[in-house]
Amino acid sequence: MRRNRRESEYTQPTEICPHPEYWHTGDCETTEQEVVELIGAFVRALQPELVVETGSYKGVMSRAIGEALKKNGHGRLITFEVDAALAEVSRRACRRLPVEVRHESSLAWRPAEKIDFCWLDSGIETRVQEFEQYYSYIKGSIIGIHDTAPHHPVRAQILEKIIDRLSPIWLPTPRGVMLAQVK
Ligand SMILES: C[S@@+](CC[C@H](N)C(=O)[O-])C[C@H]1O[C@@H](n2cnc3c(N)ncnc32)[C@H](O)[C@@H]1O
Repeated sequence: MRRNRRESEYTQPTEICPHPEYWHTGDCETTEQEVVELIGAFVRALQPELVVETGSYKGVMSRAIGEALKKNGHGRLITFEVDAALAEVSRRACRRLPVEVRHESSLAWRPAEKIDFCWLDSGIETRVQEFEQYYSYIKGSIIGIHDTAPHHPVRAQILEKIIDRLSPIWLPTPRGVMLAQVK
């Protein structure tokens, strides 16, 4: 990461995460670097064939997943980004990696095969919709949803709409991460 800022510039201390300054990020949209490393490690541990990310932004997570897949020696990432300029930035970040950056909405896409690992990190309103749309293809797989700290609206949407189909753990990171096996 080029500019590594303390997460406390963007996230206030909370009861469950009193030291956001321990985490680092490029900006307020990019996932915390420590969480990026965790998701890369999941891709190494799970050896997936197909990984899907929604919301590529500048490609920091996409690149980490792509590097993990390259190290695995098999598998590919499809990552979605609605902003054309950001999709191009992400493409550049993921050059020579097994990553396809699609400049289209995650919700315009219908999966046609099993998704082995999924990272949902697009709009606040779209992540639960993506879960619903991809559900048949992520059943039994591991997924991660970003921004699930108690102060984020994504958490309430998960609890209201899809919690019965998840075996979750909630990580007390600054912005929050929910990792789950999909039932
Ligand atoms: C929080 S950022 C993603 C951060 C990135 N995953 C990372 O870890 O660095 C959210 C991104 O999702 C994009 N986005 C929002 N809704 C989307 C959708 N339905 N499909 C694809 N991209 C979307 C936004 O343009 C934005 O770039």
